[in-house]
Amino acid sequence: MAALVVLLLALVCSGGLYAVFAPTSKAEADTTAQSLAIEEGKKLYAVGCASCHGTGGQGTSDGPSLVGVGAAAVDFQVGTGRMPAATSQGPQVPEKKNIYSQAEIDQLAAYIASLGAGPSIPTEEQYSPEGADIAKGGELFRTNCAQCHNFTGKGGALTHGKYAPSLEGVSQKHIYEAMQTGPQNMPSFPDTTLTEKNKKDIIAYLDAVNSEKTESPGGLELGGLGPVSEGLFGWIFGLGGLIAVAVWVAARTAKAKKS
Ligand code: HEC
Ligand code: HEC
Repeated sequence: MAALVVLLLALVCSGGLYAVFAPTSKAEADTTAQSLAIEEGKKLYAVGCASCHGTGGQGTSDGPSLVGVGAAAVDFQVGTGRMPAATSQGPQVPEKKNIYSQAEIDQLAAYIASLGAGPSIPTEEQYSPEGADIAKGGELFRTNCAQCHNFTGKGGALTHGKYAPSLEGVSQKHIYEAMQTGPQNMPSFPDTTLTEKNKKDIIAYLDAVNSEKTESPGGLELGGLGPVSEGLFGWIFGLGGLIAVAVWVAARTAKAKKS
């Protein structure tokens, strides 16, 4: 009988001990996963990035310091294939095919984020246009982005061979990250300038103007390039048509007089 009591007591004690220690060991597992990701990211970084950005991310003459740029900048730059850059020459690092898997990008991002605090990768809830205000987004886009990216995000040339790319087909996550981090010649729009809600509205606007579903309410959209192309169209075809009608009327009256 005594042996049974001891056994039961022992069981209760070990169960209690487990309950006390289990939560901490889960938290520990999280931090180990995090430091593992940083370790792996550091290795990837040493191979693909250190030659330009320096062994500790401090920067060299071939690339800027990455301390404090944050995980969002890495996810954007590597996810859109801009990084690793082929050379540090040229007016603007072009987009190309991304050569890393998303898991590797996350590891690189974890490593860069460990060097200094910066914007983190947005969650789907943050960048999804669900429930956003498209009209408000259009207004914000025209005041903040249209001077470079054109009225419906078709892109445009900037000075010295630089350009603002077309935003058609850019993933919602990358649009959000571009606003957070301001790649190359684009200014950044932190939450103090454009709130999370504002960013969502802009993404919803771009989604609406670039999807096939929405028809242009004004009829023929003429490439969506804005008032200059539309004005030119009106000038040539509208005014041209009026002149043609005037000539035709004049020719008929002249003929009528003769006969
Ligand atoms: C050939 C040199 C080169 C290589 C290799 C390279 N980079 Fe870059 N990187 C640059 C240059 C140059 C810029 C600055 C571009 C600009 O702003 O005009 C840059 C910019 C960046 C930025 C943006 C910094 C900011 O201020 O927002 C990030 C993030 C970045 N690189 C990450 C990486 C990662 C991660 C790798 C490795 C996978 C990598 N780079 C490899 C040259 C390089
Ligand atoms: C001063 C001009 C300028 C303004 C204003 C500007 N951008 Fe940009 N944007 C650029 C340039 C230049 C690039 C290309 C950067 C690069 O290649 O690294 C760019 C790149 C982007 C990209 C990445 C596109 C891709 O193909 O991966 C997105 C998304 C973007 N901009 C969205 C916006 C939004 C949204 C706004 C307004 C909130 C905005 N931009 C305001 C100049 C601008």
